[in-house]
Amino acid sequence: MKVAVIGAGIAGISCASALHAAGCSVMLFDKARGPGGRMTSKRTGHGYMDFGAQYFTARHPKFQQQVARWQQQGVVSRWLAPMYQYNQGQLSASPDEQQRFIGIPAMHSPLKWQAQAIPSEMDCRITLLQQVSSGWQLTSEQGQVFGPFQHVVLSIPPVQAAALLNSHSASLATDTTISLPETLLQPCWAATLVLAAPTGHAAGGIFVKGEHRSLSWISRQNSKPGRAQVESWLLHFSPHFSASHLQASTEFLQQHATDCLSEIIGKPISVTEAICHRWLYAQIDAGAAEMNLSDNPHEGVWLAGDWMRGGRVENAWLSGDDIASKILALK
Ligand code: FAD
Ligand code: NAI
Repeated sequence: MKVAVIGAGIAGISCASALHAAGCSVMLFDKARGPGGRMTSKRTGHGYMDFGAQYFTARHPKFQQQVARWQQQGVVSRWLAPMYQYNQGQLSASPDEQQRFIGIPAMHSPLKWQAQAIPSEMDCRITLLQQVSSGWQLTSEQGQVFGPFQHVVLSIPPVQAAALLNSHSASLATDTTISLPETLLQPCWAATLVLAAPTGHAAGGIFVKGEHRSLSWISRQNSKPGRAQVESWLLHFSPHFSASHLQASTEFLQQHATDCLSEIIGKPISVTEAICHRWLYAQIDAGAAEMNLSDNPHEGVWLAGDWMRGGRVENAWLSGDDIASKILALK
C-alpha cells in the first residue's frame, strides 16, 4: 500500500512511522527543510532555542511508551526546572508533580530521529491534490508530480488542508467544496531575549495567569538540558495580543518583551539580542474541541493534526497514530 503523508510535524511523523513499521510504502512531504513543524527549534549563534512547543507531557499509555523509546535513544529528556506562576502582579513558585519532556538537543530531535528511516521530500510544498484512476496524485509548488498513492494523509493546519482539499474539488464537475474553520488556530508571537548578565532567577517556566495584557508563558531557555548556556528568556504572547499585533516590528516586540520580563521578575535587565518569531497558526481555539470534524473527507484522504484532537504535542501524536491504525485496518 502506497501512502503519502503531507506535513512532517509530530502528527505526520507519528502516522508515517506507524505505517512504515507495518510495511507500507510511505513518502513524507514537508515544505520546510526538515521535520519539526511547530516543534522546530531555531539554531542561533548561542545554540538551539525553542520558539514553538516548550515541553510536552505524556498522559496516554501509548504516548508514554513512545516517550520512553525516545528517552532510550537520547533524543528526549525530562525538564526538571522549577515551575512558577505570575498572577495578579505576583510571581511565585508553583511546584507540581507533572513530568515534562523536551527534545535533545532541540525540540524537533525526536522527529528527526524517527524520520531518518522514512523516504521523504523536504523543501517540497504540495499545492495540488488530484484523484486519478489508481489513487491520488500530488503536485508540488515546483511542478513535480508524485504518486499515485492509495492514501494521502494531510497532517497540516486547517487553512492549508482546506486549500489542498479544495484544489481537488476544483477539478471535479460537482461542487464538493470542504470548508474547515480558518480561525481554528490562533497566532502566537514568540520573542527570545539574550541577557548581558545573569539575573540569578531560579524559574524554568512561568505560567502567566489571569488577565495579563499580553503574555501567556515565559521560560528560561538555559534551564533546559542541551540548550544555550547564556541566560536567555523566551516569552509567548497571548493569542489576543498576537492577533492584534500581527505586523509588529522586532524593535517594538523587543522593547515590550523587555518591559514585561523586567516587571515580572522584579529587576531591570539588559538585553544584548532579541530574536522574534511569528507563528500564524499556533494554538487551537478553545471552542474547537466540540466541532467533531470528519477525519476522512474523501475516500483515501485523511486529516490529522493537533487541531483534530486538542492543541498539544501528545494530542497531535495520538491523532497521527490513530489515522495510521484506520488506514492499516483497511489493508
Ligand atoms: P505542525 O507541527 O504544524 O506540522 C505541520 C507541518 O506541515 C509543518 O511542518 C508544515 O511545514 C507542513 N506543511 C503545511 N502545509 C504544507 C504543504 N502544503 N506541503 C507540505 N508541507 C506542509 N504543545 C505542547 O504540548 N506543549 C507546549 O508547550 C506547546 N507550546 C506551544 C507553543 C507555540 C508557540 C506553538 C506554536 C505551539 C505549542 N504547542 C505546544 C503545540 C504543539 O506544538 C502542536 O500541538 C504540535 O506541534 C502540532 O503538530 P502537528 O503535526 O499537528 O502540526
Ligand atoms: P501542563 O499540564 O504542564 O499544563 C497545562 C496547563 O495547566 C497550563 O497551561 C497551566 O495553565 C496549568 N499548569 C500546569 N502546571 C502548572 C503549575 N505548576 N503552576 C501553575 N499552572 C500550571 O502541560 P500540557 O497539558 O501538556 O499543556 C501544554 C502547554 O502547551 C500548555 O501550557 C499550553 O498553554 C501550551 N500551548 C501553547 C501554545 C501557544 O501557542 N503558545 C499552543 C499549544 C499549547
